Amino acid sequence: MPTPAPDTVTLLDDRTGQRTESTVTYGTYPRYGAAIPAIDLRTLKVDDDDFGLLTYDPGFMNTASCRSAITFVDGDRGILLHRGYTIEELAERSTFLEVAYLLLEGELPTADQLADWTHRVTHHTIVHESLKKFMDGFRYDAHPMGMLVSTVAALSTFYPEARDVRDGASRAKQIQRLVAKMPTIAAFAYRHSIGMPYVYPDNDLSYTGNFLNMMFRMTERTYLPNPVLEHALDVLFILHADHEQNCSTSVMRSVGSSLADPYVAVAAASAALSGPLHGGANEQVLRMLETIGSTDQVPKYIERVKAGEFRLMGFGHRVYKNHDPRATVIKKITEQVLAQTGSSPLLDVAVELERIALEDDYFVERKLYPNVDFYSGLIYQAIGLPTTMFSVLFAIARTVGWLAQWQEMLGDPELKIVRPRQVYTGEDTRTYVPIEGRG
Ligand code: CMC
Repeated sequence: MPTPAPDTVTLLDDRTGQRTESTVTYGTYPRYGAAIPAIDLRTLKVDDDDFGLLTYDPGFMNTASCRSAITFVDGDRGILLHRGYTIEELAERSTFLEVAYLLLEGELPTADQLADWTHRVTHHTIVHESLKKFMDGFRYDAHPMGMLVSTVAALSTFYPEARDVRDGASRAKQIQRLVAKMPTIAAFAYRHSIGMPYVYPDNDLSYTGNFLNMMFRMTERTYLPNPVLEHALDVLFILHADHEQNCSTSVMRSVGSSLADPYVAVAAASAALSGPLHGGANEQVLRMLETIGSTDQVPKYIERVKAGEFRLMGFGHRVYKNHDPRATVIKKITEQVLAQTGSSPLLDVAVELERIALEDDYFVERKLYPNVDFYSGLIYQAIGLPTTMFSVLFAIARTVGWLAQWQEMLGDPELKIVRPRQVYTGEDTRTYVPIEGRG
């Protein structure tokens, strides 16, 4: 697909008749993204006093904040690529640590590279004992996501050298530490919330097997993860690993653009992820399915959605307007997991909700389809993971994407501290009124 020539667009300002020419920057192909520099608009002014035209784009619906070679999403066609590989193929054929390597390094690892990467991650899973004490300070009923956000930020104080974000070797070390320690912090947060002793990592287990060990081991000498559940969790981690410039990744890049260290930047990204419209949605889906309760209640709730009283959690996406390819993979895995653990009445509610919604004009016209979060909560529940841990699991996986994007940003010669503009709508300059003269 060749790049069109000429590669310019001419903008005509009807207010003044002024024209300005802008050069289009393309992605790999025009359909991978094409943009003009917003700064070109600044030359369009009604008079010399005018600041110049800005683009106005609340929610960044049509603004490219960076060039990136990591992940591509084609929302109209339902395509998700990591470094050129489809998410379906990665979910089917790779492990989470392989995908993490791919996102961070740009290529799938050789057998030796994977063994080395796995070894490095595995040997950084233990956290400093003082960090454990820090976690002990949370209230017994603290939400694990709040604990995760704060504890990851606290890691920054343990590794002051991480502030040298321009040093490639130090960056690699912090990345390894974060990928390795997120599951440990997540599991410790859960154990704290149920008043159970922390379980130390078992380096003989896989990434997800070890996570299950730290979550669920009781008095047994060695924890043996159920291979179906271990694999399902690994696939879920792959599906959540990256999703280009979503809300939390944009936060990671924004915070990182001030050259803050990666621990506080990951904490900020995790905070963004915790919201119910983002990574908190999977928790909300399960609560919603529990509220609906049974399949015969589904039509009533669909009517409430259409009346604007209710939002169907796990439905809709800013980018996907056809289907979310991650949701298709998850649905298959849900069936495999529930075949192993026994079915859930909530699965019937979810399937019925999906069936009715996909036939209904309200959803069809608005292109609302199940997203990645619609079925993931059911898998987590079947694995025995509590609802409050759902967004924490998302954060473990997405840490890899955040770090890949952060690393790419720091190597970008166009890097600038993030600082959007505004269109000011407040008072013009006015005279100060002393307190006795007010009101
Ligand atoms: N249920 C019912 N109606 C919806 C939904 C929904 N889940 N999502 C969008 N709509 C309607 C919305 O009311 C609006 O209708 P109208 O044009 O009549 O006002 C129209 O669809 C467009 O909605 P929008 O809010 O302008 O769309 P958006 O692109 O700003 O929002 C979204 C995207 C994901 C925030 C939204 O679809 C949503 O709130 N979904 C539920 C939460 C959810 O599942 N989030 C997880 C997203 S995927 C994983 C992740 O990113 O973390």
